[in-house]
Amino acid sequence: MPLSLEKNVSLQALNSFGIAATAHYLLRIAHAEQLSQLKEDASLATMPRLLLGGGSNVILSDSVNALVVQIALLGKRIVSEDELHVYVCAGAGEKWHEFVLWTLQQGLGGLENLSLIPGTVGAAPIQNIGAYGVEMQDYFDHLTAFDFLTGDTVTLDKAACQFAYRDSIFKQAYKDRMAILSVTFALPKAWQARLNYGDVAQLLATRDITQPNPKDVSDAIVAIRQSKLPDPALIGNAGSFFKNPIVSAELRDRLVASYPSMVSYVQADGHYKLAAGWLIEQCGWKGKSLGNVGVYHKQALVLVNLGGATGSEVRQLAQQIQADVLAKFGVKLEVEPVFI
Ligand code: FAD
Ligand code: EPU
Repeated sequence: MPLSLEKNVSLQALNSFGIAATAHYLLRIAHAEQLSQLKEDASLATMPRLLLGGGSNVILSDSVNALVVQIALLGKRIVSEDELHVYVCAGAGEKWHEFVLWTLQQGLGGLENLSLIPGTVGAAPIQNIGAYGVEMQDYFDHLTAFDFLTGDTVTLDKAACQFAYRDSIFKQAYKDRMAILSVTFALPKAWQARLNYGDVAQLLATRDITQPNPKDVSDAIVAIRQSKLPDPALIGNAGSFFKNPIVSAELRDRLVASYPSMVSYVQADGHYKLAAGWLIEQCGWKGKSLGNVGVYHKQALVLVNLGGATGSEVRQLAQQIQADVLAKFGVKLEVEPVFI
């Protein structure tokens, strides 16, 4: 399959924040062999590269001076099973939510709490996507990736991926080095609902569902997400803009003494995760805007495109919020999406 290089391509429809960026070059990868061809092409191989999935966790500059490599590898199938698990594999370019719904149609639970997260299967391991008390790593088995450094296709298991809260080796040592080709999940044969996150159990109760199946949980999560988060098709956004900060017990106790209503969750190691949305709201930013970028009125952790936003406007607002949260609470907020 020959490489077909496009020049000066608009990326506006390819990023959920809706930034009117242009890529100098774009290459759509529909077959894994095309990545070897790319590496062997003397001029393409030396260009700076941006791997792109669904564009729902990137903030683009107006002009992306790079070769944008859009991973569009498709396919999903049940691979095998053992006593405890059914193994399912999907191409990196599959849409995440459609893949989750497909697993549920196969009668397989596990991924339902991660329903309606935008983006692709191939990007899910990058920040170890998470929601409603579940992280992708909980059901991850292995992935395959093309290594741009060696030209090899490698298989990485869970330990090799070094998953953590919104983090993995692909954001650290392997940053920009690996193109994820496919991901395989181990879904449990003995499924149990995971309803620790308050809202979900409450919504199921209001629906009179006492013994939920995976689809019931997925439906509840979809409803909760639709009530809180802006739909990128209508209002450009990249989901949570900052990670929830993890702080020492000592700092958390000091803050609670001054702010008794502060939201925090104890972690296994004794640290505390704070709710960044709460911190931002306390700084008065909820519903406010700077230029064409706003802080969503229903969820202060989400920045939104009010129309015509540029990457530098997003950066400016993010920096002001970080400065205010640091000044008021002594807490440093880390940006979640990737600035390009
Ligand atoms: P992109 O934005 O295209 O890329 C993100 C990063 O992954 C980039 O660094 C890119 O280079 C890299 N990348 C993409 N594909 C590949 C590949 N095949 N190989 C190697 N690198 C690759 N995230 C959560 O964790 N939980 C949520 O609940 C959540 N809710 C969201 C709600 C909304 C409304 C939005 C807009 C976003 C939300 N997100 C959430 C963030 C986002 O959906 C996830 O990070 C998602 O995994 C990004 O997928 P993508 O395909 O759009 O990746
Ligand atoms: N809160 C406020 N004000 C706000 C927003 C939130 O006080 O404006 C408080 C809420 O009342 C609640 C707490 O903050 O007590 C947490 O809020 P929420 O349940 O909405 O979750 P979140 O911490 O804001 C995280 C993830 C989301 C994920 C949800 C559900 C991060 C950075 N974000 O958001 O992930 O969907 O939990 O599990 O961890 C994403 O990463 O893009 C994302 C959307």
